[in-house]
Amino acid sequence: MKTYLVTGAAGFIGANFVKYMLKKYQDIKIVILDSLTYAGNLGTIKEEINDDRVEFVKGDIKNRELVENIFYRHNVDYLVNFAAESHVDRSIENPQIFLETNILGTQNLLDVAKVHWMLGKDEGGYLIYKDGVKYLQVSTDEVYGSLSKDYEEAIDLLLEDEEVKQVVKDRVNLKTYGDNFFTEETPIDPRSPYSSSKASADMIVMAYAETYKMPINITRCSNNYGPYHFPEKLIPLIIKNILSGKKLPVYGDGKNVRDWLYVEDHAKAIDMVVNNGRLGEVYNVGGFNEEQNINIVKLTIDTIAKIMKEEPEYQKVLKTDLSNINYDLITFVKDRLGHDMRYAIDPTKIATELGWYPETNFEVGIEKTIRWYLDNQDWVEEVASGDYQKYYKQMYEN
Ligand SMILES: NC(=O)c1ccc[n+]([C@@H]2O[C@H](COP(=O)([O-])OP(=O)(O)OC[C@H]3O[C@@H](n4cnc5c(N)ncnc54)[C@H](O)[C@@H]3O)[C@@H](O)[C@H]2O)c1
Repeated sequence: MKTYLVTGAAGFIGANFVKYMLKKYQDIKIVILDSLTYAGNLGTIKEEINDDRVEFVKGDIKNRELVENIFYRHNVDYLVNFAAESHVDRSIENPQIFLETNILGTQNLLDVAKVHWMLGKDEGGYLIYKDGVKYLQVSTDEVYGSLSKDYEEAIDLLLEDEEVKQVVKDRVNLKTYGDNFFTEETPIDPRSPYSSSKASADMIVMAYAETYKMPINITRCSNNYGPYHFPEKLIPLIIKNILSGKKLPVYGDGKNVRDWLYVEDHAKAIDMVVNNGRLGEVYNVGGFNEEQNINIVKLTIDTIAKIMKEEPEYQKVLKTDLSNINYDLITFVKDRLGHDMRYAIDPTKIATELGWYPETNFEVGIEKTIRWYLDNQDWVEEVASGDYQKYYKQMYEN
């Protein structure tokens, strides 16, 4: 049985990863460490924390004693670090906490894992570790900076690599807004306090791999979407506002491009990298699901309007008249400072080495996501109102 220490799993992607792993593996132990910031919500993992295979620890990844205590009590095989301050807008307002959590927190986890996994030294003085252990840092494509947008409208992508074509081509509608993509060789060039803190964390992880020969992997993924996404991020915010007939704020001219990845596809990638990734390697996760923000907003409006018309039972979640759900809701607001123009990942490495591919087409994924939000309005209300804080007290402070 493998034991995973998963940090930040009360947040969006970590929670989806834990759900995916518990479904996929019967024989598994997961210790969740999460400090429950505004972005962490126990309601997101309420079934999982009642599962015998899961232990939830509330605490900070920077707390050395606490992390050591987890390692003393559990035979941790894999540490998967999702915990982070993750919202670019918040990093522009208050950069310091991003540096503290994302950089120092990562270094603390690495250091404790190093001490607990180390067996001794080789003749060269390098550390040697227990077999089969690994630290996986969940990073972001934003560390690579910004790509140019070469086409006003998306064009069909012609893949040159035969191997990737076999893995990816038949499964998704491949399109792009530019000629260049982020590969694992693209130099790090972060622009925002958030991406700089994540890039710094990646460099610390690589430093531990070089200097202490730590068994590590880094995954860098594109923008995720799917269930349990905190309602201040683009897609859940747009859904929430559409349902109440509120204006939909879109930065600048809305033409910035992101490469959208369905969160379960990301969870699958992390599982593959933890179990089969070559030690010391970086894997980019994402691919060929590029879209402009404005088109995401329009598609979300169209999809909600269609569902409401075709399945009127859903209209009970509307706090506005159905006739108000149209493009008039869109309102362009002052652009984000230093707004990166385009992110796009080339997933050749993970596709050819590990057989991963972005399985979920955007049109399918966005409808699944919208339906999830329509069916889980209680979750949205709870997260938005802070009721989950009460839930925590009820669960853990009696
Ligand atoms: N969301 C995306 O589209 C995206 C894309 C690329 C990479 N990532 C990376 O994936 C990871 C997870 O992202 P997410 O969107 O799920 O984030 P999130 O903000 O939804 O969740 C972060 C979680 O970390 C916890 N946390 C924050 N600070 C902590 C601390 N000091 N100690 C312990 N726990 C702490 C929070 O309580 C929360 O549960 C992050 O590292 C992020 O940089 C996210």
